[in-house]
Amino acid sequence: MATTTTDKASSTMAAVSKKVLITGVSKGIGRALALELATYGHTVIGCSRDQTKLDSLQLQLSKVSPIVNHLLLSVDVKCNRSVEEFARTVVENELVPDIIVNNAGVVNKVGNMWEIDVQDFDTVIDINIKGTSNILRHFIPLMIPHNQGIIVNISSLCGRDNNQYKSVAPYCASKWGIEGLSKCIAQELPKGMAIVALDPGVIYTDMLESCWGDLASRCQTPEYWYVLFLTWFDNVSISCVYI
Ligand SMILES: NC(=O)c1ccc[n+]([C@@H]2O[C@H](COP(=O)([O-])OP(=O)(O)OC[C@H]3O[C@@H](n4cnc5c(N)ncnc54)[C@H](OP(=O)(O)O)[C@@H]3O)[C@@H](O)[C@H]2O)c1
Repeated sequence: MATTTTDKASSTMAAVSKKVLITGVSKGIGRALALELATYGHTVIGCSRDQTKLDSLQLQLSKVSPIVNHLLLSVDVKCNRSVEEFARTVVENELVPDIIVNNAGVVNKVGNMWEIDVQDFDTVIDINIKGTSNILRHFIPLMIPHNQGIIVNISSLCGRDNNQYKSVAPYCASKWGIEGLSKCIAQELPKGMAIVALDPGVIYTDMLESCWGDLASRCQTPEYWYVLFLTWFDNVSISCVYI
């Protein structure tokens, strides 16, 4: 029988139950990933700011995997103190993650750089770069004693060469920042741990719609994307095992 993409995706991820911390789980890519990982028996530790959406996700997760205790908390990643508190709660619940997916992010209102509101620029940098750094600051020290852990920082085509960047300068700057941050930390982590920046491609979410309008609906949905992610993740896990 032919192996489907889903079969491949499930091979490593389904073998052992993992604790996966995902930021930005209230919608889009993060939410789809949380739900899919839960169907494989993994424990989701999730955060974002919208409590109503978190409550609805918690309900869905409990239907998908009733015996697993997922932990979802309202945390603004750009607030270092909130992330510190988040880490403390995670430790208290004995849920130090095996995997972190730094997914929470925002994009600026499209426009020429010199016309973009200064507050909008600050918010993109504060959430995308500093928010990711806050998570890493408080969670890497918890993972180091276990000598294992994989960190995925969600980047973008906008953080790489040969692409059309027009109208999203703050977002581009933030994703180039994520690429640099990830490369630097990769050299600092101890053996057994790995960190990568991952460009998810173009996915139909609220974020894409805010940039592309109606055109966004022609792109793949997050529910399609997670299959690719899990396949990719399998390959990363296997490479890490053999490093
Ligand atoms: N969609 C694409 O085509 C695409 C392409 C390349 C890269 N990406 C990247 O993929 C990631 C997810 O994007 P998406 O398209 O799924 O966007 P989305 O649908 O707008 O979801 C963004 C998520 O981030 C959360 N978030 C935003 N600010 C936060 C904060 N301060 N603290 C905690 N959570 C926060 C949001 O939740 P709350 O608002 O409830 O806090 C939401 O759950 C982003 O890093 C984005 O840059 C997306």
